[in-house]
Amino acid sequence: MSKVESGMSFADIAERQAELDSAPVQALLSLMPPDVRRCFCSQFIGGWIAETESVRDWFAGNSELARLVLGNPGSALAFEILYERTTREPADRYFLECRAGYRVFRRLWALHSHLPELITESPQDERAFLVDNMGSGPGRDMMGVLAEHKGLRERTDVRCIDTDPAALDIGRRMAAELGLSRCVSFDPVSMFAAKPRSADVVLLIGILCPIPLRACPQILRRLRTYCRPGGTLVFSTALTSMVEGDPVSDFIMRILEWHMNYKTVDESVGLAASAGWKLKGVFFDEPLRYHCMVVAQRQDRVAQLSPRGARRHTAAMLPPSLQSPKDSLGCEPTDDPRRQQPFEAAFAGADSVLEHDAGDGGLLEVYPRGIGAGDQPGREI
Ligand SMILES: C[S@@+](CC[C@H](N)C(=O)[O-])C[C@H]1O[C@@H](n2cnc3c(N)ncnc32)[C@H](O)[C@@H]1O
Repeated sequence: MSKVESGMSFADIAERQAELDSAPVQALLSLMPPDVRRCFCSQFIGGWIAETESVRDWFAGNSELARLVLGNPGSALAFEILYERTTREPADRYFLECRAGYRVFRRLWALHSHLPELITESPQDERAFLVDNMGSGPGRDMMGVLAEHKGLRERTDVRCIDTDPAALDIGRRMAAELGLSRCVSFDPVSMFAAKPRSADVVLLIGILCPIPLRACPQILRRLRTYCRPGGTLVFSTALTSMVEGDPVSDFIMRILEWHMNYKTVDESVGLAASAGWKLKGVFFDEPLRYHCMVVAQRQDRVAQLSPRGARRHTAAMLPPSLQSPKDSLGCEPTDDPRRQQPFEAAFAGADSVLEHDAGDGGLLEVYPRGIGAGDQPGREI
């Protein structure tokens, strides 16, 4: 079967060829022996992942990050290479320089700039702000915040929860070096086995990326147990703009058997409501927006939403430019703040208002604060 018969057009082939011409990919290809390079290019252009053992073996022999991923897809140790931005083996340089790899680093930046405000908006009383970092890896996101905002150290108690003891060991060392051992603790258990402590903020960063959309609400629902009523959940998703913007890295990840489940912005936002959380806002790794960070609030009483209902009314929250999947991919690379502005404006300080009842078990509308529903607290059901 020709590529065209298989549904792939010559235009697609030209576009895929152009992806191979980027500087990081060319540098990577120059490291490969000719037979591995030929296999890599022909499989990528054909859009196949079959018969790539030679490529996988080559990555295993030339990239520490690849070996970590092959040993344990989703390992936080692979992310450590992306965060530290140092390489020990030649092929690792690709992962630091490719767009998808660099955006993981930028996601950390985005968290550093938004988390302080989200933590301190908790009601002020005597006790410390409690933060539960689920699937934390070493816990760089919160440690970065506490290292930078010294005033928060005395008032914040962070619990890093992860099943990988090696990741937590790195975190312990980092906490000691940064003088944070008193305010950051490490719990080597599953996030669903940890003892709930009614946290003010629950983080779930880099966990839902490979998980199918339909399986995410159950995870988010279970996290309600860990958050106090009125408390905040921040979860991240990998957006479809990532595979659009960097299909070569997606191809490599698949060869390494790490399969992302990319989501659109409206699917990501819809997850909050479909799991019984009240949407508060969203932020991104600007300007490319490969990652979506959804901010949601635990409500006392919740409505059970069908995924269809959740998608419908969260779609209503999105500005028109983001309402179709095509336009969700319209989060295209831009540094131009004027082009980001309408989306930011729609969500700036958004406090969703849930209203009943579509008759299908779903909620009818979610309005951003100030649009349609006024500023009164919504009728929760
Ligand atoms: C991709 S890493 C993300 C680490 C960190 N949150 C970050 O953003 O860099 C995913 C982490 O989730 C952890 N993990 C996976 N399933 C878990 C579970 N059920 N409970 C706790 N941690 C889990 C893994 O061990 C791994 O460290």
